[in-house]
Amino acid sequence: MSKTVKIAIMGAMLEEVEPFLAPDEREPLLAFFKKHNDVRYGGNLYHEAKYKGVDIVLAYSKIGKVNAALTASTMIEKFGAQMLLFTGVAGGVNPEFKIGDLVAATQLCQHDLDITAFGHPHGYVPEGAVFVKPDAKLLRIAKAVADEKGIDLKKGIIATGDQFIADEAKKSWIKATFDADAIEMEGAAVAVVCDALDVPFFVMRSISDSADMDATFDFDAFLKHSSQRSSSFVMGMLDKIVDDLAQ
Ligand code: ADE
Repeated sequence: MSKTVKIAIMGAMLEEVEPFLAPDEREPLLAFFKKHNDVRYGGNLYHEAKYKGVDIVLAYSKIGKVNAALTASTMIEKFGAQMLLFTGVAGGVNPEFKIGDLVAATQLCQHDLDITAFGHPHGYVPEGAVFVKPDAKLLRIAKAVADEKGIDLKKGIIATGDQFIADEAKKSWIKATFDADAIEMEGAAVAVVCDALDVPFFVMRSISDSADMDATFDFDAFLKHSSQRSSSFVMGMLDKIVDDLAQ
């Protein structure tokens, strides 16, 4: 990794990046980030900061694939991010995943992308791929962080779509069609952008609900707690990445 790497930290909702932000706007971004600039662009607020000498850009995109694609592209093209770490929550599809569990995406797909009418598989468009993979080195760093902290890090396929899933039938369809382990609304959009622009990326999600009939209730109840778990894991990864850069 180059010594000059600029790292993007991204979530979809304010709650997902809030653990990185000071409650009082006059304070720097938590004790560990030194904030040096706030930029409003395209309807979002980007915080430029420094962490142990490394440049950071932090933002939440707002919910959904289009917003996520705009923010990921902006972080890369306007702010010069050379690596992107996504943090947030997801609905669990794999029955072994419990609320609060940490899931690192091994592949991401768009469950609502459908030109099957033309004989293509679900999630596929010509010149694209159904699944996009995060950076292998960042996945290894995640495993190392989990091992060091004694965290039972889950891995799995994340299916993304512009729908909050709170329905057993839809959830089963997504599981059957993509072998998905978790569902959310931004990851694959970020993956497509980073893959196209050749930027290593990683998607971390903590389970907030089980995408079933209780999902809206659970989501509201666990959004904050699960966001905290995900962001604290990503912070651990950031430490390791920064240490690697220093060597
Ligand atoms: N993010 C968290 N839970 C979700 C769900 N059930 N559906 C879509 N996105 C989610």
